[in-house]
Amino acid sequence: MAAALHLNAKPFNLCSPSIRLPKSSPSPFRVKCSAGTSPSRRYNIALLPGDGIGPEVIAVAKDVLNFAASLEGIGFDYKEMPVGGAALDLTGVPLPDETLLAAKESDAILFGAIGGYKWDDNPKHLKPETGLLQLRKGLGVFANLRPATVFPQLVDASTLKREVAEGVDLMVVRELTGGIYFGQPRGFKTSENGEEIGFNTEVYAAQEIDRVARVAFNNARKRQGRVCSVDKANVLEASILWRKRVTAIAAEYPDVELSHMYVDNAAMQLIREPKQFDTILTNNIFGDILSDAASMITGSIGMLPSASLRESGPGLFEPIHGSAPDIAGQDKANPLATVLSAAMLLKYGLGEENAAKRIEAAVLDTLDKGFRTGDIYSAGCKRVGCKEMGEELLKSIESHKLATV
Ligand code: IPM
Ligand code: MG
Repeated sequence: MAAALHLNAKPFNLCSPSIRLPKSSPSPFRVKCSAGTSPSRRYNIALLPGDGIGPEVIAVAKDVLNFAASLEGIGFDYKEMPVGGAALDLTGVPLPDETLLAAKESDAILFGAIGGYKWDDNPKHLKPETGLLQLRKGLGVFANLRPATVFPQLVDASTLKREVAEGVDLMVVRELTGGIYFGQPRGFKTSENGEEIGFNTEVYAAQEIDRVARVAFNNARKRQGRVCSVDKANVLEASILWRKRVTAIAAEYPDVELSHMYVDNAAMQLIREPKQFDTILTNNIFGDILSDAASMITGSIGMLPSASLRESGPGLFEPIHGSAPDIAGQDKANPLATVLSAAMLLKYGLGEENAAKRIEAAVLDTLDKGFRTGDIYSAGCKRVGCKEMGEELLKSIESHKLATV
């Protein structure tokens, strides 16, 4: 199940001011989204747009997914279900039973984003984020793949110097259903001297570490063959066990090189010399933090897709960014992280590599042509909104329709 997301980026940047870009048009033409053939393979997709920019980026990703897949003879049946704040408003809970059931019964789940100011002060069990955590746990998707690839076209959008960012291509494998996110005991209480206390537990069982470690090693095999396991074994017992188990599992993979790094050092090394990393294997909370840091190397968190998987059963595919309520409904969001998540859905979730490649190629082509949403804009490029980015992706897929992938 664990293959590397490989993006065949072209080594040039068409975004310099000297390059002529297509004239902006207030009403870009619509591309016909039908391949004209009846699909030979059909899949059920649970579509969970969620909150904020979620519905906007999901709408774009769905069109792109449909078109690219149709060219490979693939058709989809979608079931759209509420999650997060949208579900709270509709049903009073962030993950209705019907949504979890639809997700479990699907072949793959495409998820947008959750959260918003409106629900910020809700108690923990009624926060939109709780819905996402329940979904991950309910599906048992323990391995979260978060690739961070610096596209040559976006090197200048990175906050890091060109020579540091250029060529970065790493994969964070984050444990997703254990650790401090789910550990017991947790809660609030009052101490003996009457002070309020909030507490959580970082806990890992050996088999939880073993199975995610195997995903990382398998992944590394299809990449550069290097795993860096990140922990805090100088302080935390759960990390001491983590390091012991990862080292034991490494014996099954003599062809993969294993190193260990403390998380504070890893955060520093990601900024100092990110190219040293191939596959980073880490726990739930360190993976949450390090993947956000890694996203900045690529120019924007709006570029990073993810796949959450288990041994069998449907995978969950979502951008790593949040719901960005500040720009929701303004057609400003970058849909590429969700579009690339749809490519991961095809590749990792359905084993439909060719359709995935069509999407990845369209993303590169559209960036090559200079189209940028605000978050990745740099001088000389053509600024577009979420919808127009989607239309450019469809045009690109259309124009490469006859290409063999
Ligand atoms: C992520 C997010 C989530 C997490 C939140 C929304 C619960 O930050 O997917 O990285 O902490 O896992
Ligand atoms: Mg996060």
